[in-house]
Amino acid sequence: MFLVTGATGNVGRPLVAELAAAGAKVRALTRDPAAARFPEGVEGARTGDPAATDGVEALFLNAAVVWDGGAGPLLRQARESGVRRVVALSSSSVTGTLDLPADNPISRHHHELEAEVEASGMEWTHLRADAFAVNTRGWAPQIREDGVVRDAYGWSRSVPVHEDDVAAVAARALLTGGLAGQAPVLTGPEALTKAEQVRLIGEALGRPVRFVEIPAAEARAGMTSGGVPGEVADTLLALAARCVDHAPEVSPDIERITGRPARTYARWARDHAADFR
Ligand SMILES: NC(=O)c1ccc[n+]([C@@H]2O[C@H](COP(=O)([O-])OP(=O)(O)OC[C@H]3O[C@@H](n4cnc5c(N)ncnc54)[C@H](OP(=O)(O)O)[C@@H]3O)[C@@H](O)[C@H]2O)c1
Repeated sequence: MFLVTGATGNVGRPLVAELAAAGAKVRALTRDPAAARFPEGVEGARTGDPAATDGVEALFLNAAVVWDGGAGPLLRQARESGVRRVVALSSSSVTGTLDLPADNPISRHHHELEAEVEASGMEWTHLRADAFAVNTRGWAPQIREDGVVRDAYGWSRSVPVHEDDVAAVAARALLTGGLAGQAPVLTGPEALTKAEQVRLIGEALGRPVRFVEIPAAEARAGMTSGGVPGEVADTLLALAARCVDHAPEVSPDIERITGRPARTYARWARDHAADFR
């Protein structure tokens, strides 16, 4: 049995589907199992259920689910139930290569997560994902409204990773255990500016979508009014500013682990075109 936390999320849903398609038994955690609509044969369970780890061989840990309380209680429960392996959704922000501001909340959170996972005594794999392509779904309201994306640092480059690729690596790590003690860095196959990503969304939609640069302070106000904590918004904007001149590196790890190239952003935009219509 494999336990997937955050099972309705960006990575959790394709992971549940991939494990189920491989014939594995899956227990999928959500705050609302009745509304979750998991594939047939997948067992839904409620987040916080003290029996959720019973009979589980390996756990997928999404920190979105444990952001406030830390991962400790769930990891202890897993260890006591005899779970052997934990695959944690971490972040490339821990690698230090992004030159983020010192002690920023994104790196700090994922450092703490990795430390808790390693201290749990179970076999571990950290999936150090770079920026999710799905983050750009945040542009959808603007694109639907007038086909113009207004954002800061349009010439900032990122290496957006398709959530299905993160899920594919997670499935390998859970099913085989062959990635125990490893921390693969998961990126898309190319560095693209925000303006290029916007153009590719337009291509997927079959109509032009334009990028218009706005000041960082205006972008920050939009982020914080949408619920992003100020310290996180500052970190993301500092990263975007740096990546105007320094493209983050493309990692070979998705192809190394799955045996096929990482999905492109153009592919992601086609897969999600309906979100922008
Ligand atoms: N976004 C990025 O660029 C990026 C990059 C690297 C790493 N990451 C990591 O990936 C995580 C997000 O992964 P994701 O996009 O797959 O997750 P997600 O879709 O944001 O959330 C996963 C699921 O967690 C549940 N959830 C959300 N908030 C919760 C809360 N406060 N308490 C309990 N359950 C909660 C929700 O499920 P229910 O409503 O069904 O309970 C949600 O569907 C981040 O926290 C970060 O650690 C993100």
